[in-house]
Amino acid sequence: MKHRKRIIAGNWKMNKTASESQTLAGEIKRELAECSDVEVVLCPPFTSLAIVADVVGGTSIKFGAQNMHWEASGAYTGEISAYMLRSLYCHFVILGHSERRSYFGETDEIVNKKAKAALAATLTPIVCVGETIEERQAEKHMQVVRTQVQGSLAGIAPADLKKLVIAYEPVWAIGTGLTASPEQAQEMHAFIRSVLKEMSNEDVAQSVRIQYGGSMKPSNAAELLAKPDIDGGLIGGASLEAKSFVELVRIAQQK
Ligand code: 13P
Repeated sequence: MKHRKRIIAGNWKMNKTASESQTLAGEIKRELAECSDVEVVLCPPFTSLAIVADVVGGTSIKFGAQNMHWEASGAYTGEISAYMLRSLYCHFVILGHSERRSYFGETDEIVNKKAKAALAATLTPIVCVGETIEERQAEKHMQVVRTQVQGSLAGIAPADLKKLVIAYEPVWAIGTGLTASPEQAQEMHAFIRSVLKEMSNEDVAQSVRIQYGGSMKPSNAAELLAKPDIDGGLIGGASLEAKSFVELVRIAQQK
């Protein structure tokens, strides 16, 4: 099996002012500035990107945005482009989060346009997929995730596919305290890899990192990360405090 570097990313969502972000990023930096065996990514709101860039600059901690527009520039009031993010030395961008899909009408087609624009600007997309509780109860979860992966990543060349990160976030586990069991998550991660193989080849399928997201916290991370196809976590609530986020990274550092 390919060696995939684990990746722990904090999605701060619509939380933290610029000065609160500076404090949190500073606390994380004190603990993790030298961390090189796990990729550590902070995704603050747009308004905090510059200050977080300032705090973590020169360390191995990377940062990312939570969304972007697919056009490079133009009359798109309120939007931010990949080039703007890249000019802040942003490395990552979360795309197609279920909150964007459900509250802001993002479709697989939109996510696909954004993913292509991000890759063209040398940003690494973290493409989110995941089913609702109704879809799981109706046993449609595999089909739903297959459609999301195929639609969100359509037409992306294998060399680019290898660069991106996928986050499997079952909607019913986000912010609810409910977590997918390690077995449920592993089953879906392996399935996503099989869909990637169908879309490209085994090398791509084994190279892409697939994070789990949904109420991941220090108490459940080790058993999730022990599964062979779970390469990290996309963390919401537990990323808003340095202590729990750092603890999650420490758990990911253990083999
Ligand atoms: P929680 O960790 O708060 O469940 O959020 C997960 C998430 O949506 C990360 O993108």
